Amino acid sequence: MCGIVGFTGKRQAVPVLLEGLYTLEYRGYDSAGVCLQVKDGLKTIKTKGRIKVLEDKIAGQGEISSTCGIGHTRWATHGAPSDRNSHPHDSMDGRVSLVHNGIIENYLELRSRLTEKGVEFKSDTDTEAVAHLFASHFHGDGVAAMLDTCRELKGSYALAVICADNKGELICTRHDNPLIVGIGEGENMIASDIPAIMGITKNFIVIDDGEVVRVTPDRVEVFDRNGAPVTKEVQTVNWDIEGAQKGGYDHFMIKEIMEQPKAFKDTVALRINEKGLPDLGAEGVTGDIFKNIRNIHIVACGSAYYAGLAGKVALERLARIPVIANVASEFRYSDPIIDKNDMCIVISQSGETADTLAALREAKARGAVTVAVVNVLASSAAREADHVIYTWAGPEIAVATTKAYSAQLAVMYLLALEAARQRGEMSDEQAASYCQSLKEMPSLIEKTLEVSGQIKELAQLYYKQNDAFFIGRGIDYMAAQEGSLKLKEIAYVHSEAYAGGELKHGPISLIEDGTPVIALACDESLYEKQISNIKSVKARGARVILITNGDFDIDPDMCDHVVKLPKCPYFMSASLSVIPAQFLSYYIGVFRGCDIDKPRNLAKSVTVE
Ligand code: F6R
Repeated sequence: MCGIVGFTGKRQAVPVLLEGLYTLEYRGYDSAGVCLQVKDGLKTIKTKGRIKVLEDKIAGQGEISSTCGIGHTRWATHGAPSDRNSHPHDSMDGRVSLVHNGIIENYLELRSRLTEKGVEFKSDTDTEAVAHLFASHFHGDGVAAMLDTCRELKGSYALAVICADNKGELICTRHDNPLIVGIGEGENMIASDIPAIMGITKNFIVIDDGEVVRVTPDRVEVFDRNGAPVTKEVQTVNWDIEGAQKGGYDHFMIKEIMEQPKAFKDTVALRINEKGLPDLGAEGVTGDIFKNIRNIHIVACGSAYYAGLAGKVALERLARIPVIANVASEFRYSDPIIDKNDMCIVISQSGETADTLAALREAKARGAVTVAVVNVLASSAAREADHVIYTWAGPEIAVATTKAYSAQLAVMYLLALEAARQRGEMSDEQAASYCQSLKEMPSLIEKTLEVSGQIKELAQLYYKQNDAFFIGRGIDYMAAQEGSLKLKEIAYVHSEAYAGGELKHGPISLIEDGTPVIALACDESLYEKQISNIKSVKARGARVILITNGDFDIDPDMCDHVVKLPKCPYFMSASLSVIPAQFLSYYIGVFRGCDIDKPRNLAKSVTVE
């Protein structure tokens, strides 16, 4: 959903801005641009296309000396991707330039008001109105101009501005979109996300909604919406930049698939205590927090929602708490039946997904206890929820999630075990035995990664197919939904996931000779039922890939290929069964020539509704 970056210091700004933009490219990649403070004013260079196109365009302009600038990588919302709709947007006199992440909801009203005053618009974007508005308020003090500008804005935004007249100064603010300031030595940066500042520093502060920041090479000043100074806590990133690099792999996605054992291990390691029991005390999810809960609502989007569905299975079956799972975009407008007797668990890799944040706020406003399962340190969901449980997956760069999903599952298992124990549904002995299984999962995930070669061969056989089905029952159905989403987003293959027993109520009419069906069967108690469903699609000509941990006899009228998985407790099996589906999507995507890490039309952090 667009990435913004800004630098001010003594070294040349262009390489720092470009490096920052490359790390933010996951947020949007249809156009890009920079604006630089140069000797006699500002110089804006922008283009449709990826950062590489921008880099080439900048190189084509010869030597540009500048130590302060802003940059942007775009995921279009208002106005098609084009050179003129790319950011930064400049004021009419070219003395002010601005980048924006978010959506300005009242831009039409601002646009007509500014047009009446003689402003000529050059783009179709909502953002350009903000550049002109800021310029109209700017009389030398950037902070004052930003405060005045924000009073007139409706919508969501992270903004960064440079002015020709205030050398070495970046002015920034945010409302409902992420913004951090990287604190270096004699140089500072602003950015939408942590990897973008790692070229200069690991220290950063998080800007809160409504705050305005003035950043110069030696100083960072933060003001609240009334202009009063605010003191911020400096935080330090606890991972290295290598975590955000490909490290010899062809794509981030395959690297991140391979990192799943570590993501799972790091997420559970410190949450099993010396008695071998689940321990979420550091996160405050302890005591009898689950004891008197009436319902748990799990709210998230996309893959995070599918991790939530797997969590629902574990929570309901182990802890016997009713769980209502809903996608955040529906929950927020559903007038949800949730109050102080309930708990709301939101799940989000980025912690910045607009719908998930809105759902969190809705649940909180209605009095529910809120728990955020989040990967990005100090992100909005992490800061706003009553309790935050971090998934320690490290930076996830590929747009499609893999390792963060795995780490989310790990947290859901821990929550289910803790809830079951607190509610007296599970003895300490049973909980300790499941915790032992949790500790063993990373090596089972490692073992499952060995199916890569087999899946690559299957991908070779099926990559030309344009439709596929995933089927499963219980926990397998939850993993099937995630597998199916992966195939759609990475390989652009139309794919649907169905509960095995539901097929015969309609969708089975779509099965014809050669239709690939990926059937998951990892819950022993449901093997037989699932096998009947599989046989019914096989009988209609489907080519079945069976993913199972079962030792049952496999006959030719059941499937065409078998992918064998290690055994684990049934409610944890999504952590293994999703892996063949991830590989299948990856290799089919590769064979179809897809852009694996940056699938079309997508962006990693969806900060608009
Ligand atoms: C799919 C994918 C998305 C995200 C969804 C939520 O591979 O990555 O479906 O899961 O956009 O994003 P977060 O987890 O950042 O809230």
